[in-house]
Amino acid sequence: MCGIVGYIGKQKASPILLEGLKRLEYRGYDSAGLTVHQNARLETVKKTGRVDHLVRAVDGQSLSGRLGISHTRWATHGSVTDANAHPHLSSDGRISIVHNGVIENHRNIKRFLVAQGYSFCSETDSEVLANLISYHYEKETARDQTRFVESVRKALKHIEGTFGIAVLCAECPDQLLGARRGSPLIVGIGDGEYLLASDVAAVISRTQNVVYLKDNEIVALCPDNFSISTINLEDVDPIVSRIDWSIDEVELGAHPHFMEKEIFEQPTALENSMRGRFAADGSTANFGGLNLSPQEWRQVDRLLFCACGTAWHACLVAEYLIERYARIPVEVEYASEFRYRNAPLEKNTLVFVISQSGETIDTLAALREAQRKGFRTLAITNVVGSTIAREADGGIYQHVGPEIGVASTKAFTSQILLSAMVALYLGRLRDMSYTDGVGLAEALKGVPALVDRILRENGHIQEIARRYSGYEDMLFLGRQSMFPIALEGALKLKEISYIHAEGYPAAEMKHGPIALISDRCPSVFLAPQTETFHKVLANIQEIKARNGKVIAVASESAPFPEGLADDRIVLPDAHEALHPILATIPVQLLSYYIAVERGLDVDKPRNLAKSVTVE
Ligand code: F6R
Repeated sequence: MCGIVGYIGKQKASPILLEGLKRLEYRGYDSAGLTVHQNARLETVKKTGRVDHLVRAVDGQSLSGRLGISHTRWATHGSVTDANAHPHLSSDGRISIVHNGVIENHRNIKRFLVAQGYSFCSETDSEVLANLISYHYEKETARDQTRFVESVRKALKHIEGTFGIAVLCAECPDQLLGARRGSPLIVGIGDGEYLLASDVAAVISRTQNVVYLKDNEIVALCPDNFSISTINLEDVDPIVSRIDWSIDEVELGAHPHFMEKEIFEQPTALENSMRGRFAADGSTANFGGLNLSPQEWRQVDRLLFCACGTAWHACLVAEYLIERYARIPVEVEYASEFRYRNAPLEKNTLVFVISQSGETIDTLAALREAQRKGFRTLAITNVVGSTIAREADGGIYQHVGPEIGVASTKAFTSQILLSAMVALYLGRLRDMSYTDGVGLAEALKGVPALVDRILRENGHIQEIARRYSGYEDMLFLGRQSMFPIALEGALKLKEISYIHAEGYPAAEMKHGPIALISDRCPSVFLAPQTETFHKVLANIQEIKARNGKVIAVASESAPFPEGLADDRIVLPDAHEALHPILATIPVQLLSYYIAVERGLDVDKPRNLAKSVTVE
């Protein structure tokens, strides 16, 4: 949430900042702004709305400085106005700051600063930090290069809450400072230049070498060098990592939206998630980073999965797959609930978290809470070097490339696939036979081709979407592992089409939701061929008897009665472990095409932002 880009180097800063902001816009799009250091002044331009508004506002201004900071905002404190947009200047005009996070004690600090003569022109918590840094700068006795960094350090010591910041000082033409606690920040090491950014998408066009800052670290960037220390004054040896994402992966190419691009990338993404992860004998999966021996796995009696949003739906699928194929009990918790619930966990429980970004604050807090209680933790994440990836005791990278669309798509199917591979691995450590292992492994290897087939044969889904785009309510229903996919279908539709939708286990419908059924509330049934298929057909009949329209997603050769559903989407016949992935593709396409039909901004749905780094 919120994107930060900073630049120091030989080039004009503003075009580089604007390009970086465009690439980070999925992190927030309420307003955008930048400050450029030039002629001993901090020139600031900020505007509500998208980065394009800022580009127009900057156009025609002579911003030639080679040092600058910028921000794209997802509003937390203060409404969406030009005044609340970042950067924020201290009232003496000396300090400019961009901030991602929440300063919890901002009211007390503000009261103190007002008494010291500082004034405020926004409702944000971030402006408080700009003035607090200025206050410490004024009081700092050091008069050399350390003065600025010391004033930032002292200010941050008083902050309760989370921050990723980039800071400029009018009197320091050669210094760009950054710091983080709880909100991500990376340093990009370019050719004669440095960048600061919330994530790698902003720097990838200029460098692939990055340093991931850790909590409570401060980085001081000068034109020719940089140094990192902690808020407590310890020096830090930077570890430079190489980003393996390419520039093409963060660009739209021929697609109108990132969501469409990412839906259609799924065959390749799933292939990449599996690559090199099957054992030579073909009967099990192999994971390099779990950091647990088979003997240690045998001691695990229970798994707890925690995540948020779509990743939480992936956890629910993991529960079905692991309980079924590995016969290990699994519980699933919302990370935001687990962190405060103080749930009693059994001794031999292992805690798994799933997070595409690896930065979701509640998931990170759940991980830390589990570790604090002494539980071993593993993570499935997509972003290499993310905080969750670094802090978990072990984990699995998804390798699906950057996910830019705010609505998660390819990350979700990859999380399911990896959960199925974990189920295979754990099953083979327990009671799954060699033959069953080979059967499941072979089925999983075939998933990219089946997904590709659904995508190639999707033309009629677009047509179905057109006919259903006018409804304002919809139900998604499915049994067993189709229940989480029903939840996911409803979430996708809600978040990008703004259509009220709910997901239910199909049998639960009769316990309440059936009251919603009328010709104004269609239902999407996820009904692949399983042992409950005929029960689902009965549920469809119950809806039809009440004038509800039905879209059925069903297996190719399932005996689906002609004319029972109003519309039918066909899934290829497949091993049951693959049903959750296969059934996801039509619901993704349905919500995507409905949103397009309604003329909505699919990649930037209202009120949302990718990677929720505030509570
Ligand atoms: C919905 C969506 C969100 C995320 C959730 C967790 O389409 O994208 O619900 O799944 O915010 O994000 P990560 O996986 O980054 O922890």
